[in-house]
Amino acid sequence: MNKLLIIPALFMLGGCVNQSVTQNNNTPPKTLSQEESIKVDAINKINGFVNLIKPLLMSSLKADPTGESGMDMCSASAQELTKDYNKKLSSDIKIRRTALKYRNVLNKPDNMDKQVMNQMIASKNISPVMIKTKNGYRVYQPLANLQPCLVCHGDMNDMNPKTVAKIKKYYPKDLANGFKLNDFRGVVVAEIKK
Ligand code: HEC
Repeated sequence: MNKLLIIPALFMLGGCVNQSVTQNNNTPPKTLSQEESIKVDAINKINGFVNLIKPLLMSSLKADPTGESGMDMCSASAQELTKDYNKKLSSDIKIRRTALKYRNVLNKPDNMDKQVMNQMIASKNISPVMIKTKNGYRVYQPLANLQPCLVCHGDMNDMNPKTVAKIKKYYPKDLANGFKLNDFRGVVVAEIKK
């Protein structure tokens, strides 16, 4: 697995990808092209989603650092949270998560997802990527496997046995373990219809 740069990776946990256009007195105001503004909007929606999940994950790890109760929480609510978040967005944009090595089959990647993620790994790309699709666009935000992620996505031998037991119970075919610190973990995808 590919090692990602630590400093930019730190920004990804909070999804703090700041794509706003900065201006100073010497340059004329910059207008975004239509595609650029679609991308900026998609990244904002992705960040909104990450910022919804992150505090829940972090407070569950604080309450139980083994990750055992976090496993219950994630398995019970990750899909619902995603659905609820999407309900609040306009119908032409949808957010989801996927990975090459996935935990929940509901997050299984399609061919385009796989191509983009393989490309991200090969090029060590850690910035969002926008792809034109048949009926719109997709924006992919890569995620690094940071320290807190290791609790549930690290080496099974290093995880708390109770957490491992929960993984085996909920996801007998789990592929999303064995990641090392700063490995490429997966992506948050925004699908935009235009
Ligand atoms: C408390 C345990 C726990 C922690 C900590 C955790 N995850 Fe997960 N993760 C899960 C579970 C359980 C799922 C499957 C839930 C679902 O999506 O239905 C999951 C799913 C995912 C998915 C969706 C693709 C897939 O594998 O199904 C991604 C991407 C992901 N996690 C990334 C991360 C990242 C990045 C971190 C660290 C910031 C992290 N996870 C921390 C338990 C955890």
